[in-house]
Amino acid sequence: MPDHDHIPIHFAPDPKPVKRHQHHHTARYFAHRVHNSLTTRLSKLVCATFLSLLAILGLITFILWLSLRPHRPRIHIHGFSVPGLGQESGFENARISFRVAVRNANQNIGIYYEDMNGSVYYRDQKIGSTPLQFPSYQGPKNTTAVDGVLSGATLTVSSQRWTEFLSDKAEGRVVFRLDLTALTRFKISSWESKRQRIHAQCDVALRPKSPSYSIAYISIPQSGQNGSSIVYSIEIENPNKDSSIYFDDIVLSFLYGNDKVGESNIGSFHEGTGKTHNFLQTVEANHGAFKPIANAISNATAELKVALMTRFRYKTWGIKSKFHGVNLQGTLPIGSDGKLAGKKKKYPIKNPSKKSLLRAKARRH
Ligand SMILES: *[C@@H]1O[C@H](CO)[C@@H](O)[C@H](O)[C@H]1NC(C)=O
Ligand SMILES: *[C@@H]1O[C@H](CO)[C@@H](O)[C@H](O)[C@H]1NC(C)=O
Ligand SMILES: *[C@@H]1O[C@H](CO)[C@@H](O)[C@H](O)[C@H]1NC(C)=O
Ligand SMILES: *[C@@H]1O[C@H](CO)[C@@H](O)[C@H](O)[C@H]1NC(C)=O
Repeated sequence: MPDHDHIPIHFAPDPKPVKRHQHHHTARYFAHRVHNSLTTRLSKLVCATFLSLLAILGLITFILWLSLRPHRPRIHIHGFSVPGLGQESGFENARISFRVAVRNANQNIGIYYEDMNGSVYYRDQKIGSTPLQFPSYQGPKNTTAVDGVLSGATLTVSSQRWTEFLSDKAEGRVVFRLDLTALTRFKISSWESKRQRIHAQCDVALRPKSPSYSIAYISIPQSGQNGSSIVYSIEIENPNKDSSIYFDDIVLSFLYGNDKVGESNIGSFHEGTGKTHNFLQTVEANHGAFKPIANAISNATAELKVALMTRFRYKTWGIKSKFHGVNLQGTLPIGSDGKLAGKKKKYPIKNPSKKSLLRAKARRH
């Protein structure tokens, strides 16, 4: 049945194309499906790539921002003085000068300054303001000092403020506030930020700490030995960074029980800021009072009392305070060798403590 066979073959053109068509259709269909899945896969891929690119970009931006993030300039006060206020009538002569250090701590960012003002406040009232001369551009990692002076016309002090100031000054407790304002722009390579107003405030306090005194060494001759002069060394420390101290004469008395063993004098002197002075002194002991302590020492440990009396004034930024009087006490354990016996290296002379006052009160009741 070749014909029969043939016919279908001849007839085939119709079904064949159909078949082919069908085949084609299937192919297209598959191709379509493949294409479809390809596009989804492709779009998925593109999407994923895009998202990860975005994430990476975000991360890079974040890191860049972290490393490039502009820091505001840092401002420190390096000096503040109010000279010419010694005299009570110093109103017209009033003059405040200060120096601040402005630091651009950024690695790669420059800062433009368009305008900078320094103002001084006293008890929350502005007493003066002045424009500050500052280079208009500050490069990265640069520190520049800037000086300001307020005087005459730039200072407005009401008479009430002035009276308050004088009494605070006499007490040695004055607090000024220095205010710095500036208009700035950041510069990162060629990009410039928009204008920003910066504002810094610092309190400048004339509030000095009391100096401290301590006995670091003492030698009391033992009985039987020649002489009766006590040798001691006293350490006087000024803990202030801004205030130097003018000491009047310092009188030290050594007491055994209620009897004065000896008295010592240190002449007036000036102690600079943050300085410590050591004085090695000799006291000629009072014979009558010396014997009992010399005897006591020969036997055991004795307690020697020391009393310190002086007055001093602070000098801060050119202002001298009034005198502060002090009346201090210390207790020194003396060993049988006539030297300091306790564990401490030095013994403080200080205000009689509240505790001991309370104890004394309690005993009295
Ligand atoms: C800081 O910048 C100022 C002004 O541009 C410049 O005069 C000074 O030399 C710089 N200082 C340093 C340490 O680079
Ligand atoms: C500085 O002071 C002047 C005059 O009072 C004022 O016009 C200017 O806005 C001030 N600048 C800043 C940054 O505060
Ligand atoms: C004490 O010293 C004086 C002179 O400095 C001397 O004449 C005397 O003998 C001494 N006494 C004793 C006990 O060492
Ligand atoms: C030494 O101590 C003993 C006992 O505490 C006492 O009896 C004696 O009087 C003391 N001697 C002197 C010289 O103080």
